[in-house]
Amino acid sequence: MLDLGAGSGRDAAALAALGHLVTAVEPTAALREHGERLHQGAGIRWVDDALPALPALVAEGARFELITVIAVWMHLAPAERAVAMRTVAELLAPGGTLLLTLRHGPVPARRRMFTVRAEEVVDQAQAAGLRLVHRGERGDLHGRDDVRWSELGFGKES
Ligand SMILES: C[S@@+](CC[C@H](N)C(=O)[O-])C[C@H]1O[C@@H](n2cnc3c(N)ncnc32)[C@H](O)[C@@H]1O
Repeated sequence: MLDLGAGSGRDAAALAALGHLVTAVEPTAALREHGERLHQGAGIRWVDDALPALPALVAEGARFELITVIAVWMHLAPAERAVAMRTVAELLAPGGTLLLTLRHGPVPARRRMFTVRAEEVVDQAQAAGLRLVHRGERGDLHGRDDVRWSELGFGKES
């Protein structure tokens, strides 16, 4: 399984604890190193790579049964997203599942973050050959009134 933009590895560690083989991709060295320390012994493989092209991971030729992209897509510039979706779809194994969450709300000061619409991501995923299997909306788990989240799930044909 692949956690893209893993941060300090909360989700990667949860998946590893369930017994899955997990690769965590995180481009920010401080977060990656923190995650490696925090989850030492969890068996997570950490990779320094970044969307949209993920050159290191793509060069390995591996395919993943589950790819999670949690709270990451809004950090990609609009022009990067179609390429990023094609890269992710390529990394997904036949029969695999892609899960994304998208943050909607005000952009915090000094953060590289952009507006992203769920419809745009659905269109790009379908153009990359994926099928929508889940779409949900929810409030913010941290209780911020002006922040909402979309949850999207896609499948790749076997
Ligand atoms: C809000 S954090 C979410 C981290 C983690 N997924 C979570 O839910 O806790 C956004 C993460 O996306 C990563 N990120 C930003 N741009 C990225 C890119 N181009 N490719 C991969 N990860 C990226 C950041 O370094 C950061 O770890």
